[in-house]
Amino acid sequence: MEAMEESFLADYQQLIEKRRTFAIISHPDAGKTTLTEKFLLYGGAIALAGSVKGKKTARHAVSDWMEIEKQRGISVTSSVLQFNYDGYCINILDTPGHQDFSEDTYRTLMAADSAVMVIDASKGVERQTRKLFKVCLLRDIPIFTFINKMDRDARNPFDLMEEIEKELGIQTYPVNWPIGCGKEFKGVYDRHRREIVSFTANNGQREVEATEVELSDPNLSALIGEENYNTLKDDVELLDGASYEFDQEQVRHGKLTPVFFGSALTNFGVEPFLRDFLKMTTSPLPRKSSEGEINPFSDVFSAFVFKIQANMNKAHRDRIAFMRICSGRFEKNMEVYHVQGDKKLKLSQPQQMMAQEREVIEEAYAGDIIGVFDPGIYSIGDTICTPGHKFQFEGIPTFAPEHFARVRQLDTLKRKQFVKGTQQIAQEGAIQIFHEPYSGMEEVIVGVVGTLQFDVLQYRLKNEYNVEIALESLPFQYIRWIENKELDVKTLNLSSGTKVVQDFKGNQLLLFVDRWNIDWAVERNKDLVLAEFSRN
Ligand code: G4P
Repeated sequence: MEAMEESFLADYQQLIEKRRTFAIISHPDAGKTTLTEKFLLYGGAIALAGSVKGKKTARHAVSDWMEIEKQRGISVTSSVLQFNYDGYCINILDTPGHQDFSEDTYRTLMAADSAVMVIDASKGVERQTRKLFKVCLLRDIPIFTFINKMDRDARNPFDLMEEIEKELGIQTYPVNWPIGCGKEFKGVYDRHRREIVSFTANNGQREVEATEVELSDPNLSALIGEENYNTLKDDVELLDGASYEFDQEQVRHGKLTPVFFGSALTNFGVEPFLRDFLKMTTSPLPRKSSEGEINPFSDVFSAFVFKIQANMNKAHRDRIAFMRICSGRFEKNMEVYHVQGDKKLKLSQPQQMMAQEREVIEEAYAGDIIGVFDPGIYSIGDTICTPGHKFQFEGIPTFAPEHFARVRQLDTLKRKQFVKGTQQIAQEGAIQIFHEPYSGMEEVIVGVVGTLQFDVLQYRLKNEYNVEIALESLPFQYIRWIENKELDVKTLNLSSGTKVVQDFKGNQLLLFVDRWNIDWAVERNKDLVLAEFSRN
C-alpha cells in the first residue's frame, strides 16, 4: 500500500515537473501563428505542414484548429493549446493580436510561467512587443526570443541584439547565429554544439532540409561561400569574446534572454528552438499568496481566476471563468473552496479545458488551465483551493487603459439597466469605468486597452441590457493611479490636458493627454506618487 502511494507521488510530481506553460508574445505579423502551428506539428497535433494561416485568415486559424482538435482529440482553442512533445506536456496560452488586443491579453501573461517573444528580423522590436514585454517583466519570468523570417532580408544580427538590450533592458545570449539572410540565408551556427545547421532554399517549397556540419569541416567554406565563411568566423570570435555568458539563474528571472534565429514559415530552426527552450525554461513556478509562496508540487489543490469570458454560448448567456492551476491536482467533481466568496463549491457543472468546445476533463495538474462554468460568482484574481485552506493569491494588476470615451445613454429612463450593464461588464474586466468626482456630471468615462472593446460594450449593452449608448471619444492617452491615497486631489496643480477621475473602487486617478502633461504634474506636485499598474 505504502509502495503504491509512493509511486503515485512520484508520478504526480513528474506530471507537474514535465509541464511547461507559456505565452507567445509578438507584434502582429511577426509570425506567432506560424510558429505555434509548427510547434503543434512537432507535438503530432497536426499532420501536415504548410497550412500556415496568414494575417487575413488568422482568425480562421482558431476555428480550423477546432476541427483539428476534434480529429486528433487534442485541446485547441482561442484560450490555450495543450499538446505533448518529447515527454513534456505543453500549454501555450494565446495572446490575441491587435484586433482583439485587450486587458485579457495582459492578464493571460499572469497565468504563464515563461514567454516566447517572436521578433520579425527585418523590423526588430515593435510597439506591441514592447507593451507585452513590460508585463512579462512585472512577473519576473523567463523570456526567450525567436528572431523570425531569416529567409527574408533581415537587419544585422548585432544591431538586433543591441536593440533588444537597449529598448527592453534585458541582456541577450544568442544560442545560435545566422549566416546571411534572405536569398543568401545559409543557416545558423549552433554555439553550444559548435556546428552549422545549413539551410537549403527549396524553390519556394515551404519545408527545408537542414544538414549539420562542424565549424572545422574543410568543406564549410564551399558550402556557405567564402564571404559568409569569413563573416561567420569574425562573428563567432566577437560573440565568444563579447556577448554575455549563459547563466540559467539570470534566464530564470528574465534578466537574460536566450536568442534563436530561424524561419517559422520554412520550418527552419523551429524544432531545435522548441527542444532547447523546453529544457531551459521552467516547470510551474511557485506563486505568491497571503500565506507565503505556494509550492506547485504541494498536494493542496489551488488555482486563481485570470480571465472571465461572457456569452461563450449565445443560447445560454453563460460565463466561463478560466483558472490557472497553481498547485496540486484537479479532479472532476471535486469539492473546492472559493476563498473570496467564502463558499464551498462542487465543480459539478461541466468543466471544460478551454473555450468553445466543451470537453469535460477528468483531471488536470499545476500548470494547466481549466474553464469552469461561472454563474456570476467569480471575479478576476479569485482563489479556489482545497477546503480547509484560506490563502489568497496575489491580485492581478489592473492595467492602464489607453483609449477613453465618455458614454452617454440615449434613453435616460433606462438608467438602472445602464448602471447594471456597465458595472457587470467592468467586473468581468473587459472595460474600466470612471467617474468625474468633482464635476457634478453623471456620465461615465470608459477606458479600454484595445478599441475593439468599445464596440463590444456597445453591442453587449444593447443585446444583453437593452440599452443604447453613444460614445464620445476623449483625447486622453495615459492614466496613472495616485498611490498616496491621503493626498487631497483638489490641491493639485494640474495642466489643462489632465483630468481627475475615480474608479468604482474609489481610487483616485489622473488622465493625461500626453506625456508632457504627466511631466508637468510630477514636476509641480512634489508629493504626488503615480503608478502605471494598480494592485488594488
Ligand atoms: P502573427 O500570428 O504574428 O500575426 O503572424 P503570422 O504567423 O500570421 O504571420 C504573418 C505573415 O508572415 C504570414 O504571411 C506568414 O506566412 C509570414 N511568415 C511567418 N513566418 C515567416 C517566415 O519565417 N518567413 C517568411 N518569409 N514569412 C513568414 P501572409 O502573407 O500574411 O500570409 P500567407 O499568405 O503567407 O499565409
